[in-house]
Amino acid sequence: MTLLSRPHAVQFNLESVRDDFPILKRRISSSKPLVYLDNAATSQKPKAVLDAVTQYYECHNANVHRGVHILSEEATDLYEGARQKVQNFLNAPSSKEVIFVRGTTEAMNLLAQSYARPLLQAGDEVLISHMEHHSNIVPWQMVCEQTGASLKVIPLDEYGALNQEAFTGLLSKRTKIFACIHVSNALGTVNPIKDMIQQAKSVGAVTIIDGAQAAPHYPIDVQDLGCDFYAISGHKMFAPTGIGALFGRHELLDAMAPYQGGGEMIKYVSFDRTLYNDLPHKFEAGTPNISGAIGLGAAIDYMAQLDWVAVTEHEQDLLEYGQQQLSELNSLRIIGQAPKKASVISFWMEDAHPHDVGTILSHAGICVRTGHHCAQPVMQHFDVPATVRASFAFYNTRDEVDALVEGLRHVRKVLVG
Ligand code: ALA
Repeated sequence: MTLLSRPHAVQFNLESVRDDFPILKRRISSSKPLVYLDNAATSQKPKAVLDAVTQYYECHNANVHRGVHILSEEATDLYEGARQKVQNFLNAPSSKEVIFVRGTTEAMNLLAQSYARPLLQAGDEVLISHMEHHSNIVPWQMVCEQTGASLKVIPLDEYGALNQEAFTGLLSKRTKIFACIHVSNALGTVNPIKDMIQQAKSVGAVTIIDGAQAAPHYPIDVQDLGCDFYAISGHKMFAPTGIGALFGRHELLDAMAPYQGGGEMIKYVSFDRTLYNDLPHKFEAGTPNISGAIGLGAAIDYMAQLDWVAVTEHEQDLLEYGQQQLSELNSLRIIGQAPKKASVISFWMEDAHPHDVGTILSHAGICVRTGHHCAQPVMQHFDVPATVRASFAFYNTRDEVDALVEGLRHVRKVLVG
């Protein structure tokens, strides 16, 4: 089941949605309304998520899978209930295929070390793209160094889309792993990921998708996509920080060695040998982030009651309106204009360093991200050291786009005169 087909969807009402997020009522410097446009870095949290976390600590706090007492049973039910919510959210066939992790970064490191390291050898190739977040570059560089495998990179075109012809040309029997971002955090580009997965699978590659920026915007269905692994980060999708999930096909997860050793991931330990636990616990050493998982479950429930056709239309409207308004400003270059984009606008202003732009906007209560967005190869491709990035969530408004444009006019006056 995907979010689009969820049965209890209500009409999308922007005002009432904004009311669900307490922080959006904040004023900056006592008078200016907060304009939060840094959702690709982290999203804000609805009251339902904050309440679920508080309720857990106030009423049910205990360790999971370890006690026979009532609190431990309740905490375990809540934690495992959250796993089922993630399973539904991703349309994973089984909750055993959902591993709680700290976020997408940990998921990629887990896969590089537990899946790829024992498999790869000299002559093998790992294929990633030029638009990856560092978390989907560095773990593969590390494992290539450890095994002698080579890293191959799908090039970007001038609009910030992946060159699909080059992608097809790079695939071969040597491609053991295809690891790719679904939606670019730095550019907003939405990749034709289903088609890319199918092509990668046709040469026998294992397919690993970074879904951190896709999950807050689109329904995800790992069975429809046909991928082997898919990772999400809770904090990008209205849940707390420090929690995320990795979907992996049972057969692959089952054959993999654990990532970390410790409590919970074992069935039996002696000094002679250790018997590992079943899935998913084999990959969850130590006390997990229980409150985070419960918060993630609450965020998924919150998202499920929104009308996602309306949400998508609204976010696309913010993107198109924002791009059109910004393109009317002098000496402003939008970085990344792929035909299919999520609601992310990266840009560069002549004679204005992004950090200065961000600082001046902040004085006006406007939060954007400035820098390389953990995607330095993207900056190198567009020959800029950094960009300013406005990234929208469904609770943002056209008025906030106007505030950004007004803020940028002010920036120009301050910096250029
Ligand atoms: N990956 C996060 C971003 O794009 C931190 O801002």
